[in-house]
Amino acid sequence: MPGLLYIEKFGSSALTPDLVRRLEAATGKPAHHFLKRGIFFSHRELDRILTLVEQGKSFYLYTGRGPSSDAMHLGHLVPFLMTKWLQDVFDVPLVIQLTDDEKFLWKDLTLDQCHQMAYDNAKDIIAIGFDVNKTFIFSDLDYMAQCSEFYRNVLRVHKHVTYNQMRAIFGFDGSSNTGRIMFPPVQAVPAFSSSFPSIFGTREDVPCLIPCAIDQDPYFRMTRDVAPRLGLQKPSLLHSIFFPALQGAMSKMSASDPNSSIFLTDTQAQIKKKINKYAFSGGRDTVEEHRSLGADVEVDVSCMYLRFFEDDDQKYEETIDKYSRGELLTGEVKAHLIDVLQKLVLDHQERRKLVTDADRELFMTPRPLNFRPDALKSKQDKSTVNAS
Ligand code: TYM
Repeated sequence: MPGLLYIEKFGSSALTPDLVRRLEAATGKPAHHFLKRGIFFSHRELDRILTLVEQGKSFYLYTGRGPSSDAMHLGHLVPFLMTKWLQDVFDVPLVIQLTDDEKFLWKDLTLDQCHQMAYDNAKDIIAIGFDVNKTFIFSDLDYMAQCSEFYRNVLRVHKHVTYNQMRAIFGFDGSSNTGRIMFPPVQAVPAFSSSFPSIFGTREDVPCLIPCAIDQDPYFRMTRDVAPRLGLQKPSLLHSIFFPALQGAMSKMSASDPNSSIFLTDTQAQIKKKINKYAFSGGRDTVEEHRSLGADVEVDVSCMYLRFFEDDDQKYEETIDKYSRGELLTGEVKAHLIDVLQKLVLDHQERRKLVTDADRELFMTPRPLNFRPDALKSKQDKSTVNAS
């Protein structure tokens, strides 16, 4: 569903330039290009998080991944890159949920396979550059057995959601296995700080911000609906649009079709070949026509990919401008994109090689993180910080 329609139908709010400016003022940093270019386009109560920051209070970030055997594609990278930037500029803790239980319930895989995939994907996530002192990554299969507070919260959510509500939100029917009906509260509860006693102690009131693509919003509509009935805070959300398939915004990226996207395991030659061969072009049929009419940059996949991954604003705008006026040909824009993506993927692969099993174990061990609710004490109103 296109972004604006989603905002209208499900009542999220548009991420306005004013709010982006407020975020810049609160962090003292220029906004990430994902925020400036409308890639993160919608939110739920991001303003509440900014108010807290302006008052010197802290919060935490939560995001996740449904582990799969297939390499992550560039779309999966989008919320994680946003999350890393938010972690850096706000200096806050982050929890990352790997839903190996979800994969078991939806795919034809064994529990051991799903658990292993969570561990494999964890290395890719670590390679994005999260700060080990501020990040806890967990597999649901592990953590549910390690932390009774987590399971207690799952049960509390269950008690407040009926089967009819689940069915309306997620489309379950009588043939859905019962595990699927049980799962949404598992994705909900990392949004409550009491699910992480090793990080937050007994505090139940640490606010949470969830960056994700818009497809995950139904889980958090449910979470936000239930939270006040549990006496807990509603999480805030920051939503991105979907990174499109090489064939265009209307077709779906699929791990079973390696030519539908660029994967983090692709070789330099594969990246070049896929873009040259499959990236849908908004260029015109003949050079003459192209020079006089310019490209249709709205449908051109290389332009869409550059919008996500060319982080230099000047280069990005220049390319789009020249291409739309016919000064650049499709081949030249594709060459630009190939450079950008080859570097992005190669850098990622090099960082991933350096992630050891010991690094992963540390990220995945429940432990205290650098969470200092009073870290911003110079600005803080102490009487309102510790409401727990
Ligand atoms: P998963 O593994 O399907 O996706 C992981 C994250 O990537 C986002 N995403 C995309 N973003 C942009 N373009 C795309 N083409 C694209 N495809 C996927 C997803 O929105 C997600 O943020 N159930 C979840 C795992 C999860 C989670 C969470 C995600 C558990 N807790 C909290 C976000 C926040 C899943 O299977 O994600």
